[in-house]
Amino acid sequence: MCKNCSKSDLALLDPVLEEFAGDNHALVAILQRAQEIYGHLPCDVIYRIAEKRGLSPAKVMGVATFYSQFRLKPVGKNLILLCKGTACHVNGADSIAKALKDELGISDGETTADGLFTLNEVACLGCCSLSPVMMINETTYGSLTPEKAKEIVRSIKAEGERQ
Ligand code: FES
Repeated sequence: MCKNCSKSDLALLDPVLEEFAGDNHALVAILQRAQEIYGHLPCDVIYRIAEKRGLSPAKVMGVATFYSQFRLKPVGKNLILLCKGTACHVNGADSIAKALKDELGISDGETTADGLFTLNEVACLGCCSLSPVMMINETTYGSLTPEKAKEIVRSIKAEGERQ
């Protein structure tokens, strides 16, 4: 296992592995359930699944990295999905990305040190008429400007500090 490997409560995974024990095609389903349990797919969970399924860790990791739905790193409390699709790109998504990166001090795919925000740049979010667009958890924010994007993040941060 890698030296940075987490120490997950692997007992939580046992019922899932038992449920799919007889199903040779259930790896994706197992990874989905594991991500529901742990919030992402830690290294030790990947190894446990590999061991129990009789697969190499590389094989399980290969499947986990192939599908964009799987996350190998923990995600912050607020997951920002910044659209970099064509309409948003044309309407200034790059300047929104720069504003968010400046405000949060992180790059695409990273999480702030306080665990409050993760930034993910994604393809079209399906609401191009509002471009440029980002989603934070379940909420969509459209017609963004760099300053508006910063304000939204600041107000969520302030809200978090009040709690
Ligand atoms: S291109 Fe951004 S929502 Fe479609």
